[in-house]
Amino acid sequence: MNPVPPPRKILVTAALPYANGYIHLGHLAGAYLPSDMYARYQRLKGRDVLFLCGSDEHGVAITVTAEKENVSPRDVIDRYHPANRDAFEKFGMSFDRYSRTSTPLHHETTREFFVEFHRRSLLKQKSEKQLYCEFDRMFLADRYVEGTCPVCGSTDARGDQCENCGSWLNQTDLIDPRCKICGRTPVVRETTHLYFPLGDFQKRLEEYVKERNARDGWKENVLRYCESWFREGLEDRAVTRDLSWGVPVPVPGFEQKVVYVWFDAVLGYISAGREWAKEQGREDAWREYWQDQNTKYVAFIGKDNVVFHCIVFPAMLMAWNDGRTDAYVLPENVPANEFLNLEGQKFSKSKGWGIDVRDFLKYFPADYLRYGLATSLPESRDSDFTLRDFQARVNNELADILGNFVNRTVAFAYREFDGKVPEASGTPGAQDKEFLARLESAPGAVGGLFERYRFRDGVAEAMNLARAANKYFNDQEPWKTVKTDREACATAIHHCLQAVRTLGILFEPVVPHIAGAIRAMVKADKPGPGSWDSAGKPALKTGHSLAKPEILVSKIEDAQIRSMMRDLGLEPGPPSLQAHKAQQGTMITIDDFKKIDLRLAKVVGAEKIQKSEKLLKLKIQIGEEQRQIIAGIAKTYEPERLIGKLVVVVANLQPAKLMGEESQGMLLAANDPEGRLSIVTIEDELPTGSVVR
Ligand code: MF3
Ligand code: ZN
Repeated sequence: MNPVPPPRKILVTAALPYANGYIHLGHLAGAYLPSDMYARYQRLKGRDVLFLCGSDEHGVAITVTAEKENVSPRDVIDRYHPANRDAFEKFGMSFDRYSRTSTPLHHETTREFFVEFHRRSLLKQKSEKQLYCEFDRMFLADRYVEGTCPVCGSTDARGDQCENCGSWLNQTDLIDPRCKICGRTPVVRETTHLYFPLGDFQKRLEEYVKERNARDGWKENVLRYCESWFREGLEDRAVTRDLSWGVPVPVPGFEQKVVYVWFDAVLGYISAGREWAKEQGREDAWREYWQDQNTKYVAFIGKDNVVFHCIVFPAMLMAWNDGRTDAYVLPENVPANEFLNLEGQKFSKSKGWGIDVRDFLKYFPADYLRYGLATSLPESRDSDFTLRDFQARVNNELADILGNFVNRTVAFAYREFDGKVPEASGTPGAQDKEFLARLESAPGAVGGLFERYRFRDGVAEAMNLARAANKYFNDQEPWKTVKTDREACATAIHHCLQAVRTLGILFEPVVPHIAGAIRAMVKADKPGPGSWDSAGKPALKTGHSLAKPEILVSKIEDAQIRSMMRDLGLEPGPPSLQAHKAQQGTMITIDDFKKIDLRLAKVVGAEKIQKSEKLLKLKIQIGEEQRQIIAGIAKTYEPERLIGKLVVVVANLQPAKLMGEESQGMLLAANDPEGRLSIVTIEDELPTGSVVR
């Protein structure tokens, strides 16, 4: 007898997000949802998965935020790390460990690598010209300097990287550099740093990418990025910085400097594993994944991180492995996604354009968002997420196809067969056979796509199975045969119930909560390792009892979408209006507030706007002045009801055109998640034009 081989070990990491802001939908679509689907799928396949992530808490991303908010870097990370950890949990991320890079353990990992490289004289000391701000008296590391990208011409490239074209820059290459803190033009000064000899690894890195691609099929976009760096030629990179926030450089003479954030961040994956092991009470358990050459390591990221994961991190690991017996595994694949846009525009913190996960989840269940994102993942090019699409996906697919099939099947069995799985006794016809074959092959078809990191297609394939199941139900017409041919009816419902269970497993990676509810309805066993492969086989025995059918997915109403968009400042309209989302969590000063000229006004005229069900055209009196304001309140207010009302308006808002009508200000109104709305008015009658503060 052959011994059963141990399950394949799979190490999954997702990019460590900076703890300087809240996780938004763009992040989820880049690295997180795909990695979670992959980890969940692999667990069902019976593989031994370790799934790691954590907050990236060093670097200028953090210190710039701290300066902007006038708090310490520690305050920044202590605010965002727990918030993001919780948001991930609500979203259903199944990390084995969500760590952070400010821990002593992580500092230790970083020091270990650094000291090892220094001991082996890998790091070269060089004096180099860097940008220095004489006003702020500091070297402008990384994001402290911005300027024009020498590669693509984007005017907001940062000192280390251009977000627009993805180039990894040397700050002295920037055209028209400016200090991020004071806006002044920096000067060039010499400073001494330690450099990692990346150039020495170029040949090996090229081979590495080639070999892994041949083995595991790397994504086109990722290969293209790698090729372009190889073509340019890799150079030595400074791995120390003149900053005070970070891991202090553990080399004599450099104690005043810190390790470059990307050097420590990628090692954060290893630290997260060490922390996980510690928590298990098996301090060395992390080595069973990280240092077993049979582990398949897959690193999920967004496209702006490609160079660090396909070139820098592998080079660091190669360097370590060259001189040691405790060798690390290198990424087998780095499935990077492109970017997700929101309603046609890039996510932008500074422009206030985006939706944070924690906000979104106040309105809709995580699984709705997971499905909406999974069907629009930017896998091969940038993609667009719109709330209309989201609503349509949830309503037309999740509710109408999947939810409907499960519900009608279980409800039918509940009603007609005593809440039990009826017997499939007749001779199976062509349709039955075809359907059973389809069920049987579905796990392989969906799983094959997941294995190749094609999550969008995999999810579509799973939904196609639900479509086919609905069609089978329709073609079988059990509501007719129940009266004419009870045996045929029982057979059809028997098969449909098996399909319900199959769907309850195949949908687990994308919508785990809904999948659990599906399985609960047919009282299926909890899926465990290996469940995936047998998901397509009939497992529910005749006579097995079912739970009471419930509505799985309720549809999203237009009003829910509208009120969320309104609350989050995402009203459709001209970009100048869209851009006014107040950054959640960012405090404003009293001077910021004073910029808004709020005035008391009286409504002296109101009429509906043709062709718009939500807009009203108002004439308002503000002191001596009359203005026209277009307000989205027609669903709540009849025009007549508004005449004579005292309202509060923003009087210094840039005019905007809505449905071809000019709006010279904005009226304040309160609304709740159900879409109910009330204009803001005041208690006592004061003259119009009075200042509101
Ligand atoms: N914090 C980085 C970003 O948000 C990603 C770091 S990934 C890791 O772009 F490699 F550093 F872990
Ligand atoms: Zn400056």
